[in-house]
Amino acid sequence: MIIEPRTRGFICLTAHPKGCEKNVLNQINYVKSKDPIEGPKNVLVIGASTGFGLASRITSAFGSNAATIGVFLEKPPKPNRPASPGWYNSAAFETQAHQAGLYAKSINGDAFSDDIKKQTIELIKKDLGQIDLVIYSLASPVRLHPKTGIKHKSVLKPIGGVYTNKTVDFHTGDISQISIDPATEEDVANTIAVMGGEDWYFWIDALQKENLLAPNATTVAYSYIGPKLTEPVYRKGTIGRAKDDLEATAFKISDSLKSINGKAYVSVNKALVTQASSAIPVIPLYISLLYKIMKENNVHEGCIEQMERLFSERLYTTEQPNTDKEGRIRVDDWEMREDIQAQIKDLWDNATTETLGSIGDLEGYNTDFFNLFGFKVEGVNYDEDVNEIVEIPGLQ
Ligand code: NAD
Ligand code: NA
Repeated sequence: MIIEPRTRGFICLTAHPKGCEKNVLNQINYVKSKDPIEGPKNVLVIGASTGFGLASRITSAFGSNAATIGVFLEKPPKPNRPASPGWYNSAAFETQAHQAGLYAKSINGDAFSDDIKKQTIELIKKDLGQIDLVIYSLASPVRLHPKTGIKHKSVLKPIGGVYTNKTVDFHTGDISQISIDPATEEDVANTIAVMGGEDWYFWIDALQKENLLAPNATTVAYSYIGPKLTEPVYRKGTIGRAKDDLEATAFKISDSLKSINGKAYVSVNKALVTQASSAIPVIPLYISLLYKIMKENNVHEGCIEQMERLFSERLYTTEQPNTDKEGRIRVDDWEMREDIQAQIKDLWDNATTETLGSIGDLEGYNTDFFNLFGFKVEGVNYDEDVNEIVEIPGLQ
């Protein structure tokens, strides 16, 4: 079929297998262009199909020759109905990994469930024995709690008062004011239940009980901080509470891993266009200004550059990675540079529908957004008939 983007708000309902494949190849080539990393050997990536999780998997495999198991929740294709992008990404990744002689298998299902944890454990026992790196990179709006059966929904709201600021419709470039009502206590609890650390803890606990974590095993989850500007809706809002919980869980997991000398870290990553971040009000405008400034200063990175740097310059260099005083690894250091933030603050005040085209990188945002779904990727012929039915070679 000929596959075109069909967008509805901040989601795209279609995905292009060739474009997704090309994105994955580009990421693999980026990692191969860098020095090899003396990194992990057996890696489990939870949330492995898109964004930071996919980039972590690619860095593990092609930077460090690691065997990888990927867990994700993606929609398979049906005749005349393309798969979700993470499906095509995983198909392309596993094809390339297998061609390179690397072990790569995956499990598609709800990572929050006991059943998917059990399936993953069985696969590790059968094939890999022990894991030395667990990446936890889920971004989800909902979690069906495996113990209580409650379906928690996360929200993106400020806490304590209405938050009003500018936001952009990144399809049209229209800037408008948005007001978001504050969260209730229940909203906060639900968001923590979905995006906080409990499930990360459950995963590590389940793996450790089965003796599937190698001596000195590391686990890393991803967080975000960002500038004052977005604090009410991000770091001091409901999602920020969940990130506080995730960050606290790192200490709890490190404690539980003492007997194997294991370590849990949170890495604070930079703001990037992903399916998860497109859904947060105000953030897309911030990102389009950030991209402009970071590109001008030659410090712009995508997911793969971030994860390659995390592995090569933080996790696998010195014995203990440098952390901030809260114990977090920082690869958002370039985003948070004082000079970068000062420039964004100036631009923010001047950003209007009329000025954004020249002062922001709306085009970069837009391209990145479509790229997530395999569209607007350089070197792909979109007029060509493609087979929407693609298999993931290592899918269990
Ligand atoms: P993403 O949407 O690209 O990736 C989410 C992954 O989770 C996908 O692989 C998806 O299949 C998987 N997933 C979602 N629900 C699942 C479920 N129930 N079971 C199994 N798999 C499931 O998101 P991302 O932006 O890469 O986010 C990953 C982490 O990085 C999140 O913790 C996010 O907060 C954090 N982070 C994101 C940014 C950013 O700007 N995008 C910045 C810093 C940190
Ligand atoms: Na991810």
